[in-house]
Amino acid sequence: MAAYDELIKQCKEIATLASTASILHWDQQTYMPPQGAAFRAEQLGAISNLVHQRFTDPKIGDLISEAEQSDVVKDPESPEAANIRELRHAYDKATKLPTELVEEITKTTSLAQQDWVKARANSDFKLFLPWLEKVVKLSKEKADAYGYEGEPYNALLDDYEPGATVDEIVDVFEKLRNELVTLLQKIKDAPKKPDVSIVEREYDVELQRIFGESVAAAMGFDFTSGRLDVTTHPFCTGIGPGDTRILTRYNPNRLNDALFGIMHEAGHGLYEMGIDKKKYFGTPMGESVSLGIHESQSRMWENQVGRSKPFWKYFLPQAKRLFRKSLEGVELDDFYGAINNVTPSYIRVEADEATYNLHILLRFELERALLTGDLKPADVPGEWNDRFQKYFGIEVDKDANGCLQDVHWSSGLIGYFPTYTLGNLYSAQFFNKAKEDMPDLDEQFERGELLNLREWLRVNIHQHGQRYRANDLCKKVTGKPLDYKPLVAYMNAKFGEIYGF
Ligand code: CO
Repeated sequence: MAAYDELIKQCKEIATLASTASILHWDQQTYMPPQGAAFRAEQLGAISNLVHQRFTDPKIGDLISEAEQSDVVKDPESPEAANIRELRHAYDKATKLPTELVEEITKTTSLAQQDWVKARANSDFKLFLPWLEKVVKLSKEKADAYGYEGEPYNALLDDYEPGATVDEIVDVFEKLRNELVTLLQKIKDAPKKPDVSIVEREYDVELQRIFGESVAAAMGFDFTSGRLDVTTHPFCTGIGPGDTRILTRYNPNRLNDALFGIMHEAGHGLYEMGIDKKKYFGTPMGESVSLGIHESQSRMWENQVGRSKPFWKYFLPQAKRLFRKSLEGVELDDFYGAINNVTPSYIRVEADEATYNLHILLRFELERALLTGDLKPADVPGEWNDRFQKYFGIEVDKDANGCLQDVHWSSGLIGYFPTYTLGNLYSAQFFNKAKEDMPDLDEQFERGELLNLREWLRVNIHQHGQRYRANDLCKKVTGKPLDYKPLVAYMNAKFGEIYGF
């Protein structure tokens, strides 16, 4: 036990140090004056170096090895065994990358991002091409350094979705894609069209904040251990025990952006709040499973709850009291249609629930082909546009609206995109199970009662930290592995009703 205890003590110290970077990052995105940017980068760099040095110290490796030989790992599902399993995984990954490669990736991506901004502004793929080639090459080297079974993409995906493999997801993704293309066609041909103008009227920003906070509070987001602030690119950060922060942005002429943004980030926030950080902070048991599982929480609250009719049966009258003029005389069905309107568009971050995953699947297919070498970086625009036409039925007008739109590739984040779709798939599977366990969930929502769902998520998902890997957690909770059918069934039912097919 001695080695395990010493290891945990070290990890908690390292995590405490690392958490200061989270608060500096939060400050950078909210209140920091612009002139502070250069020094802030130095502060963050210094902390990140310290954290990396301390965690990759051979002493940590020795403690992990010693703990692996001890009795604490006897029961593989115990918190101690889970901690050792995930610390081993993280330690091996952190020590496998040569320092020179890490430095080259950092240098390359920082320059690549600068040129990407220009390339996107001018829709100039040629300017970005040499960087994309470099990033792909470095990503392959990274995958080689990590080591992998199957294809190199697996090594990169593992950074965001530990244990997930292409083999496990590719079949599910392909079937999902075919179903979504069919769904989109039905929506396009549908006789009924929602009136989106309802949510595109004047919505006072201060009233939006009040309404958003009241919804987050109803979800169980605890404002004595969390806060809501304004930023340009919304996110959620779990800083430590008792401190979870969510951020949003307001559009005075659109209700959806901030409202569903707040529900999304509060969903992430509830996950952070539901982990037992008092006990496990600084250890894998005090961390979320993966980006995909994190996203399953945010998307469930945003979509399955926030874009559902039972929810609005209670909350529309509330909203009408605040937004008197804009919502005057608006019927539930019309409002429900307006918040669920589907319009295929070029830009991923503006996509609706029905088309969002198609954006992701397209990126996943191209990334994977770039890594295997089946696709040359120079051929990315052509391939992107062909697939876009096939999936969305629209012609990409320029690369800024196509392969140049996302920051990810210039940042070296290859392998990240699939976690969004994994989140949507898992959210549908979890939500089905929650409904099975609580058959009156819709009636609860109609009464504005959201806390039983929060509690179900806490017990079944949040409190486990990293005890189970994503797909194991899914099997444990739902009895089934990752599956496309629950998400497709949910979407077909929902959009079928709204669009009348
Ligand atoms: Co999210």
